[in-house]
Amino acid sequence: MNEPSGHLPTASPAAAVPPPAVPPPAGCPAHETAVRLGGLEYQQTPAELYRELRRRYGAVAPVLLDGDVPAWLVLGYPEVSYVTAHDDLFARDSRRWNQWEAIPVDWPLMPFVGYQPSVLFTEGAEHQLRASVITEALEVVDQFELAQWCRRIAGLLINAFAGSGQAELMSAYAHALPMRAAVQMCGMPARGTDTEELVRDLRISLDAGEGDDPVAAYVRVQERIRRLVKEKRAVPGADVTSRMLSHPAGLSDEEIVQDLISVIAAAQQPTANWIGNTLRLLLTDDRFALNVSGGRLSVGQALNEVLWLDTPTQNFIGRWAVRDTTLAGRRIRAGDCVVLGLAAANTDPQIWPEGHVGAENAAHLSFGNGEHRCPYPAPMLADVIARTAVETLLERLPDVVLAVEPAELAWRPSVWMRGLTALPVRFTPVMQ
Ligand code: HEM
Repeated sequence: MNEPSGHLPTASPAAAVPPPAVPPPAGCPAHETAVRLGGLEYQQTPAELYRELRRRYGAVAPVLLDGDVPAWLVLGYPEVSYVTAHDDLFARDSRRWNQWEAIPVDWPLMPFVGYQPSVLFTEGAEHQLRASVITEALEVVDQFELAQWCRRIAGLLINAFAGSGQAELMSAYAHALPMRAAVQMCGMPARGTDTEELVRDLRISLDAGEGDDPVAAYVRVQERIRRLVKEKRAVPGADVTSRMLSHPAGLSDEEIVQDLISVIAAAQQPTANWIGNTLRLLLTDDRFALNVSGGRLSVGQALNEVLWLDTPTQNFIGRWAVRDTTLAGRRIRAGDCVVLGLAAANTDPQIWPEGHVGAENAAHLSFGNGEHRCPYPAPMLADVIARTAVETLLERLPDVVLAVEPAELAWRPSVWMRGLTALPVRFTPVMQ
């Protein structure tokens, strides 16, 4: 149904071993009329589908994931806020799922739900500790220095296609830049054979193409990050890895490996699609004239509008009910899977009664909410990376335009990420 691309993958299909099964809820009546997530119509115009689901089911819809596995999709802004704020009721450890018996080991969503002992799946005091180690290591990242790295990385990527007068920006730019920025934050050079291999393997394990072996790539990523941790243990530097290692919490090397992979993976896909979706908006919407003299709305406004209207992590899987409860009148059983409908919540008519969606503030749920939200200061770092990527491209290629009609731009066939399959552009070739 949908490719296993999405935010925060945690394990290769083979690496994720389902925990002992709890019997699935027998014939939940709500799911007899559930909607299958996915399908082309969904991918291209999800906003319409969310409207329809809301009309039919209200704020919480019974849905079927790949292989017709039942789950709940939370569509309402107050309801997503409630679920994420009550981690005692809707928690992150996927081992409590009551559907494991029905899930094959090679299930496409396994990388996102297969339990791993990382920050993503830990709970309570342990999660607070793991998250604080990440937060404190990220807090020290100098945003001016990060912007400088990003400009340098952007320059090198643009140099590779500037002379040709054309490019496919998703692969040549939007995906490549945040990956390199994240790797550099963690203490590896943005370029070099080792880094190139890690970047390639991360891409394959996060977003496998035809002929790729995501399991083998993920094993190589783990090996490389283990080596990085060992190197930084021996010779610390001014980087996120070294700061995590020297944190007084004293996490083990293996815990740090798991959390570093989570950080790099979490930084990659959503930031890449944030860049791509913003470039698309700038290139297709007259309110954002691309040259500086004609510009009416800024890059900052475009970045924020995307978070409201085309948020990169459109649905996030998820939370698992700790005990029987109700949500928006639905009976949720212990162990049910709850998918956070972040895009649907951002466009909830309850918060936009006038029908106009989007504000200049950051009250959207695009970075999640509550205990497991995207950890401070990651959203700010992501903003630096995305803003620098967009601004540098526009500065270097001031007459860049789409090379296809806007209607020809296709969205990725993913229920989880909102991003383009390709963004072909043309511009006056720049000789270096
Ligand atoms: C420098 C870039 C980024 C880094 C380092 C980063 C890091 C992380 C980490 C480590 C988590 C796991 C938190 C936990 O489970 O406690 C997380 C969660 C999350 N991040 Fe980010 N992230 C980045 C960019 C983004 C972007 C651009 C978006 C979307 C616009 C985003 C949206 C989210 C969401 C929706 C979650 C899940 C929240 C939840 O479970 O409620 N992140 N991020």
